[in-house]
Amino acid sequence: MWLFNSSIGKKFIMALTGICLVLFVTFHVLMNAVAICWPGAYNAVCQFLGANWYALIASAGLAFLALVHIIDAVVLTIQNRKARGNDRYAVNARPKSVEWSSQNMLVLGIVVVAFLGVHLVQFWARMQAQEVMGSLYSYEGVEIPAAAGTLFLQIAFQNWWTPVIYIIGFIALWFHMNHGFWSMWQSCGLDNQVWLPRWKKIACWWVSIVIALFTIQAVVFSVRANQNYYLTNADLQAQYQEMLNEHFESISSEITSEMKSIQIEAQQIQRSNDFSGQIRMQELQQRFMELQGELEKLYGEHNDNVINLMNLASTEQEPEESSLPASVIPADAEALPEEVTE
Ligand code: HEM
Repeated sequence: MWLFNSSIGKKFIMALTGICLVLFVTFHVLMNAVAICWPGAYNAVCQFLGANWYALIASAGLAFLALVHIIDAVVLTIQNRKARGNDRYAVNARPKSVEWSSQNMLVLGIVVVAFLGVHLVQFWARMQAQEVMGSLYSYEGVEIPAAAGTLFLQIAFQNWWTPVIYIIGFIALWFHMNHGFWSMWQSCGLDNQVWLPRWKKIACWWVSIVIALFTIQAVVFSVRANQNYYLTNADLQAQYQEMLNEHFESISSEITSEMKSIQIEAQQIQRSNDFSGQIRMQELQQRFMELQGELEKLYGEHNDNVINLMNLASTEQEPEESSLPASVIPADAEALPEEVTE
């Protein structure tokens, strides 16, 4: 197929995937800006973009685009080198920065991929991937819900080396994206003397603004994380607790609904006055007690989690009362009828 076999087709795919990735990076920097201006709203966005089908499709699409972009780049580079040796561009009137990044594209690519590796381990693997697996990321005895984006910022940016690695990654990304724009136009043979310089200027400004914003964000997140802001802020703490309560309710709902159906069946047996129901009644009693134990264990773990989260913040304040009932057993399910009356 022309698109995959011809050199111009590959360059077209390269340009298209490149533009999509630049749009993603632009969207990403705007989303991070929400974390700076309204941290609570940022967590709401993280909840919205969790393991929902639309977020998963978007993530898979993004991974596909990045993979195609990288493979295409490698194939094109090999072809170019074979065709032209070291003189890789027909026109050599390149700006100094482009000249430098062109020669160091492999190193820059490796730096960007290495940064992405660290970044995805710090965020994606702890958030969306955990949610997909139905688990929570555990940090210092606290199980953290995937939607608590600001807590993940705290954990990542409280390390001194995080901003260092990120800023090195941003610098490499700046050169990479600038060179990408330049070579895209050069490769496609666009030589409109009026529009080419204008597009290059727009591209350079765009990339520089995005990278400058990322850098400012990394600095602000680091300063706030070192002040424990994302742990001690009262509004954020309330949000984390609510998320933990929601998580507990979602995993305990199966148990409580089974307990309720046991109750209903037990009441029916009792009402029927059927003596043969005695054996079934004993089975129900047994299962009910098992579920009661499971629920109490879960509730204990949930309470420990809330307390550990408070301890992590090292604040004086006592953990707020959980919004859950003091007894985890459904109000009308305290006990089952002991016996079936004859
Ligand atoms: C200050 C800088 C940055 C911060 C604080 C940040 C933060 C985050 C967070 C919180 C997530 C969400 C993970 C999830 O919900 O699963 C994420 C995902 C991601 N980030 Fe960043 N990011 C930054 C810079 C970048 C840059 C420069 C790139 C690209 C070169 C990038 C690429 C990605 C990718 C590919 C994902 C996965 C998206 C997905 O799951 O669909 N990030 N980032």
